[in-house]
This record gives sequence, structure tokens and C-alpha cells, in this order.
Amino acid sequence: MLSELLLTEISRLRLQGKLPLHRQLYEALRRAILDGKLAAGDRLPSSRDLTQDLSLSRNTVVAALSQLAVEGYLVSHVGSGTFVKDNVPKPARRPGLAFRNQSAELSQRGHALATTFCASQLEIQPFTPGIADFNAFPVSLWQRLQNKHWRMTYPDMLDYNDSGGYAPLRRAVADYLRVFRSVPLEVEQVIITSGTQQTMELCAHLLADHGDTVWIEDPAYWGAVKAFMATGLRLHPVPVDEHGIAPQARDEATPPRLIYVTPSHQYPTGAVMSLARRHQILALARRHKAWILEDDYDSEFRFSGPPISSLAGLDTDQRVLYMGSFSKVLYPGLKLGYLVVPKGLVAAFKRAHYDLNRPGQMPLQAALAEFIEMGHFASALRRARQSYAERRRCLLAALQPCLGEDAQITGAEQGLHLCLRLPAAIDDQALADQMAKLDLTVRPLSAYCLRRQDAKGLVIGYGYARLADIERYGPLLASTVAAALTRLKARPKSS
Ligand SMILES: Cc1ncc(COP(=O)(O)O)c(C=O)c1O
Repeated sequence: MLSELLLTEISRLRLQGKLPLHRQLYEALRRAILDGKLAAGDRLPSSRDLTQDLSLSRNTVVAALSQLAVEGYLVSHVGSGTFVKDNVPKPARRPGLAFRNQSAELSQRGHALATTFCASQLEIQPFTPGIADFNAFPVSLWQRLQNKHWRMTYPDMLDYNDSGGYAPLRRAVADYLRVFRSVPLEVEQVIITSGTQQTMELCAHLLADHGDTVWIEDPAYWGAVKAFMATGLRLHPVPVDEHGIAPQARDEATPPRLIYVTPSHQYPTGAVMSLARRHQILALARRHKAWILEDDYDSEFRFSGPPISSLAGLDTDQRVLYMGSFSKVLYPGLKLGYLVVPKGLVAAFKRAHYDLNRPGQMPLQAALAEFIEMGHFASALRRARQSYAERRRCLLAALQPCLGEDAQITGAEQGLHLCLRLPAAIDDQALADQMAKLDLTVRPLSAYCLRRQDAKGLVIGYGYARLADIERYGPLLASTVAAALTRLKARPKSS
């Protein structure tokens, strides 16, 4: 029955235009779900049966099912199959009374962007991961610098900029990266962007075509998922282990065009990519002629363990594009980041960045360059490191009582968050909901998972949590987790 329905829909789509096969199947299944022909909890035929019934290749079927899982329509349970998920977001079909709800008119991509992996930006409260303490930012000093540069501004500074950014800022970034991240680079390789989101989109636009495959860590950073969805790439989730992204031989059957990684401190598990794994990823990229997008978003904060060179620093083949951001050391709304591109790509990237983004903000960039040159960045970093080290210590101590065989901390060596790993049978979303009732934001690890079902835990930030809040709420967090673990243990095995 389902196969007939899908075949009819696929042939209709074929008549309408030239979608690749995996996209036709994806669309046919998606429509069946949205139209209610497949209901929540319905089990899909195995990919082998679909392959036979629809006369498609296994890769085509797997690609369509994976994309639907990534976008939240399907869920796989190891050993029992693939099912339609509960609460699949449906586009609204009828206009409301006061406002016409136009979400039904969104593109498929728009719909997926608006309904999946959404971070609520207003959740700035103790333990929210991914947020730095921007209360510590020296606002009046910054104001003085801004005023000075606005006073000195000449008309050129108000124009769009086609040179990759304000030269002294690019120089300052290059100096920093050479010394602290062992990135061998020349100033012209640095391009200033409006933050990592824009950097990722720029890389995706220039290095991959619509439908090309990007390998993405599973669990993954939502921002990266969105950037690659928006640029029409096919996401291939690769599970992360304690050494970072861990590709297996089966992953290479879906060769990557891009590999997006957060090797310094995997977001969200916190895994630090081992040196051996770094060499493996570089060799793999070389073999597949793929580009590595290295997101070094919080490498400024390393609290224990030996420093490890960036992937860009180990790259002998010019395959790594290195990206960083000022969001974590200064403040997120600054919206300034940087990209280091291999020499052979510099001219093309600058030209395309100009045409796609019309970059500017030169007085802001000039103020930031001076902020760095005068040593204010280094002092802000020093202060932040001290303060976060203390908060981290306090959080680790508070969590101690709930740790054990079933609750372990990963990723506390670096960055502004850690991950409390919990058994696969726990409902980490329910735990996060329980904390939310207390106005505390911890994120369930499962919410970052694209395909895998086994990663459960809580992603806990200490960047934005004041010491007093950690002292007050940390023990509450620990006791809530401990109680959930006790309940889990008491549960009859069959339930
Ligand atoms: C993995 C990761 N990359 C990058 C960023 C910074 O992004 P942006 O520069 O767009 O602020 C963040 C911020 O939370 C992040 O978690």
C-alpha cells in the first residue's frame, strides 16, 4: 500500500521537474506524513524492502530516510525499525482570523528551518550552554573606542568593503592565530565575517553544490545544522565518540564534500579530538578531496590537559578552512568572526563574500582592532579565563554527588560548558523540563542528536552562570539527576 502511494507521488514529482531521486522519495514520504497518510508511530518498511518495492538504490533510500530523520519526521530504534515521529510539525493550512498564517506557503527548506532545531534566544539564565558572561564586557571603554573611530571615520569607512575586512583587525587575528592556535597563515588569508553562521554559509556556498554531502558530527551544533540545511546540502551525521567525530568504513560509502567539526571541544559532548583522530580526518579529507570546516568556537578557554594543535595547524594539504568568533570572549551580539582560507581560495572567497554579503561595519572593526592592539582583548580573556575556571570548579564540585557509573562528566577540560552523560534509557528531555520549571536551562543531549538514539545526558553551561547561582542551584541539579537515576534503577526491566 505504502509503496504504491509513494510510487504515484514519485512519478507525479518526476513530471513536475528534475529533483534527484533521493529528494523525490524524501518529498513523497514527507507529504504522506504531513497529509496524515502515515501517522505518528507508524512503522516504515525496512530500507531493503523500500529499495526493492520502489526499484531504487539502497543509497537513495537511506539518504531520503536520513534526511527525514535529521529534520525530525522519522525516528529509528535499533533492532525494531523506523517510525513516524510524534508531534511532527505541520504547516498551518487555514488562515487565522486576525493574521493570515503564511507558514503553509513556506518552501520545504523554510519549513524545516522554521520548525526544527530551534534555539530560543531568550533563555539566558543559569546553566544555558553556549552563552558567555557578557556582563563582564568593559562597556564604557568600548564606547570610548567606538566614539573615537566614529569621529575619525572618513567616507571610505562607510562603504561596503571588498578586501576581507579592516586590515589591522585581520593582522591582529593572524597574529593571535599564529601564536595561540599554531595556524600557519598570512594576513591576506583572513576574512572578517559577521560571525560563524555567515562563515559556514559562505563556505557551503563556495565549496559545495546543492545536494552535495556534508558530514556533520552527531550530536551536532544546531547552528551548523541550520547553515547546511539552508544551503541545500545533504547532511550525513557521523557519530562522535570520546575522541571526536568517529567515521567508520560505512560512512565512506557516502563520501563527503565538506566535513564540519568542532575538534577543540565538540559541541555539545565536549570531546577533544585526539591527535590520532585529527590525522585520520585529515587523511580522509585528502582521500575524498573534501574540505574540512574547523569551528574553533571556544578554544580560548582551556582548563586542563595539554594544548592540541588546531587541525589547520596540522594540515599539510590546504584542505582546512579555520573559523573563529569573538562571541565567546567579547559578546555574541558583536557579530564579528573570522575565516582563514587556503591561499588558493583567497581571491574567490573575497569576491564572493563581497557579492553575497556586502560586508561593511568598518568603524566597528576598527574599534575592535584597537581594542586588541591596546591589550584589552588579552586582559578580557585573562579575566574571563579566571572567572570561568572558578565557575567550572564550583559546578564540578556541585555535580560530584550524582556522579557514578551511570552519570559521568565529559568535556570539562575546555570551553564554557560540560556534558553530564546519562544512561540511554533516561528521559533527558523530562529532566531538562523539570529544571526549566525552576528557571534553569540545561539542554538534553538527545535534542542535539540527528540520527543516533543512544546519546543521553545534560549539556550544562557555566559561562553565563554566576558563582552564587552555581553554588545555589548546582546541588539542586545534582539531586534532581540523582533522583531520576534512582527511579530509573527501580523501574521493572520490561518497561
Ligand atoms: C559550536 C559553535 N560554533 C560557533 C558559535 C559562535 O557562533 P557566532 O559566531 O555565529 O556567534 C557557537 C556559539 O554558541 C557555537 O556553539
